[in-house]
Amino acid sequence: MPLPANAPPAYQAECGACHMAFQPALLSANDWRRTMAGLKDHFGTDATVDGPAGQEIGSFLERNAGNAGKLGSAGEPPRISQTARFVRKHREIPAKYWKDPRIKSAANCEACHRGAADGNYSEHDIVIRELRR
Ligand code: HEC
Ligand code: HEC
Repeated sequence: MPLPANAPPAYQAECGACHMAFQPALLSANDWRRTMAGLKDHFGTDATVDGPAGQEIGSFLERNAGNAGKLGSAGEPPRISQTARFVRKHREIPAKYWKDPRIKSAANCEACHRGAADGNYSEHDIVIRELRR
């Protein structure tokens, strides 16, 4: 699942500046709405998007969002890494890896998934050798 072709350029520019531009299917529409509503205090930073770009990004994310029932609750504030789907997919990873200096955070998808920015999460393209299948 790469970024949908209709992604507005503002999405990569505004939401890919501090971390990768997450694929919209990774959160439900409701969780993206809450994320966009809370950008002023976004995980300790101000990630406000001014003007029409904010509106544009919000409707892009909601239109291409994932299925809420399949993803499960993302918590408050919403985190991809807290959805039941994420937890299930990463169940076999020993806890110490989430704090490993090479990884830093579960949100840092690219630390483990070489192709994350292209939406490639295949278990064969894992950067960390010991976690590769
Ligand atoms: C100024 C930097 C910055 C910008 C700009 C930014 N973010 Fe973030 N974002 C963060 C930080 C910091 C975190 C927390 C990362 C962590 O816990 O490792 C985060 C986390 C997230 C998460 C949760 C990831 C997870 O699963 O834990 C989502 C979703 C997210 N951002 C979406 C967005 C969207 C959408 C935009 C654009 C509107 C955006 N971000 C712009 C800094 C930023
Ligand atoms: C600590 C390394 C690590 C981090 C960080 C990480 N992953 Fe993973 N992920 C893995 C491994 C290893 C697997 C394969 C697990 C298995 O098959 O047992 C996996 C599996 C997946 C799968 C399932 C792939 C499939 O074919 O079923 C998805 C989707 C996924 N990750 C998305 C993400 C996203 C999105 C992020 C960031 C929000 C992320 N991962 C962060 C290591 C990581």
